[in-house]
Amino acid sequence: MSEAIKFFGKGKRILVPGCGFGHDAIALASAGNDVEGWDIAPTALERARILGRGKTVSFHQKNVLNGSHEGNQFDAIFEHTFLCAIGPDHWKQAVEQFANLLRPGGLFFAILFTNLNEDSPPPWGIGTERARELFDPYFEVLEIREPKCSFERRVGEETLWQLRLK
Ligand SMILES: C[S@@+](CC[C@H](N)C(=O)[O-])C[C@H]1O[C@@H](n2cnc3c(N)ncnc32)[C@H](O)[C@@H]1O
Repeated sequence: MSEAIKFFGKGKRILVPGCGFGHDAIALASAGNDVEGWDIAPTALERARILGRGKTVSFHQKNVLNGSHEGNQFDAIFEHTFLCAIGPDHWKQAVEQFANLLRPGGLFFAILFTNLNEDSPPPWGIGTERARELFDPYFEVLEIREPKCSFERRVGEETLWQLRLK
């Protein structure tokens, strides 16, 4: 998270797709940003709203894959464990929506499971080549590298992606 905060800076309008209980969204808000968390699960959102009270964060029941969202709404998107939860059939649609929701030049930060050692998804790993295929039409790659820290059981399985909307 500290790497995303450094990448985005402060004062940004940030979307966390598939925000779950909202921990990432709340951390980004606490770092001085105006954040929205979107999720389809009402119970997760209920909890997120309690945890986020008093912070510059709001939580909304929205399907990220729905094609009718207003475009150019956000300066940045933070992705962690959304793509690996929705699975390969929905990746193209999700990346199209990310590109639509960001303003031109908007930033995209992701931790992707590019080297996942699990045979029974979810989570679905996304190989580097496949990820490039999905992102390249819309995004310029600024950096792809190992994250400075990972959960112990995920060490070596994930890479950090910093992209900018073309
Ligand atoms: C693995 S959880 C990740 C939660 C959160 N990012 C975290 O790290 O705690 C994936 C989340 O994506 C949500 N989700 C799945 N499909 C979605 C969709 N189409 N639109 C919005 N949220 C979705 C699920 O409800 C779930 O809360």
